[in-house]
Amino acid sequence: MPDPIKRLTIRRPDDWHLHLRDGEVLRAVLPDTTAQFGRAIIMPNLKPPVSTTALAQAYRRQILDAMPAARGSAPAFEPLMTLYLTDRTTPDEILRARDSGFIHGVKLYPAGATTHSDAGVTDLLGYCMDTLEAMQACGMPLLVHGEVTDPGVDIFDREAVFIDRVMIPLRAALPELKVVFEHLTTRDGVDYVREAEGPIAATITAHHLLYNRNALFQGGLRPHWYCLPVLKREQHRRALLEAATSGNPRFFLGTDSAPHPRGAKEQDCGCAGCYTARHAMALYATAFEQAGRLESLEAFASLNGPGFYGLPQNAGTLTLERSEQTVPDELAMGDDVLVPLAAGSMLPWRVLTDPD
Ligand code: NCD
Ligand code: ZN
Repeated sequence: MPDPIKRLTIRRPDDWHLHLRDGEVLRAVLPDTTAQFGRAIIMPNLKPPVSTTALAQAYRRQILDAMPAARGSAPAFEPLMTLYLTDRTTPDEILRARDSGFIHGVKLYPAGATTHSDAGVTDLLGYCMDTLEAMQACGMPLLVHGEVTDPGVDIFDREAVFIDRVMIPLRAALPELKVVFEHLTTRDGVDYVREAEGPIAATITAHHLLYNRNALFQGGLRPHWYCLPVLKREQHRRALLEAATSGNPRFFLGTDSAPHPRGAKEQDCGCAGCYTARHAMALYATAFEQAGRLESLEAFASLNGPGFYGLPQNAGTLTLERSEQTVPDELAMGDDVLVPLAAGSMLPWRVLTDPD
């Protein structure tokens, strides 16, 4: 057997799906992302939602103000802002977003699908057609949380049913609309994105590459492994890993790192969301190594995303080293704490940071 790869240098990666929140949570979590990524698509599910260009501009300013002070040659970080689509988003708002230069997508949350989605869309093709047409015309991507909210549909089937009920009719009506199928979790999703015609791509999280739904119940109920879309069966994890490591430019990195205070997850009705930003690239490298495909990590993390979004690749690089680290039991988050995904477990990779 050849020696395992000990070090890997790739072009600086981007995170194409990230929750940063605001206020002191933002200040606590942002350095985890800026230490590894050149850019990130910032999810707009704040309270209230970031539903206008003006709100996105204010949120962007907050993020830039919360940036860790640049040390020496520390690379800059650019937040790529998004708008939260509602039943009332107008075509004019899309034009303002396009003209802003800093808004790179519009996020569809089916109303009630996940954390902070109550202002989301109730009937996409019924209420949003003019707005979607404006997006198609100006090349603004639609970023889709692809799960139906019908309580009659089993939670493990909601992505597959979404493809039939929403994704296929949507893309038949608007074949040139750029669509990102966010946090893909099933073989059905992989097959659809691989085979569909037109401008479509998908993000994949590290946790859906590394774990199946057994993680939710290992030795008891594990709230820190609960996210939406929920972890699926092993056959789906394998399909995702195969897609992510295949080099297919339609698949790229999106952590969906979603910080919640420990107490909000450990309670009667715990929040959905896994925190992975601190160890993001170590988690992805672990998954790619398990698949024997470390050489395709760069395409997935650093090349395919900019290709789809029509942005340049980052200038710098990131080096990963094969050296073990244990994920801490908890991380400080302002006056609170959060529990990172895989707390207490060992990861074989770490990001090599420049010495201070
Ligand atoms: C996200 C959050 O906490 O904002 N939660 C999650 O489980 N992924 C929302 C989302 O992306 O669905
Ligand atoms: Zn998300």
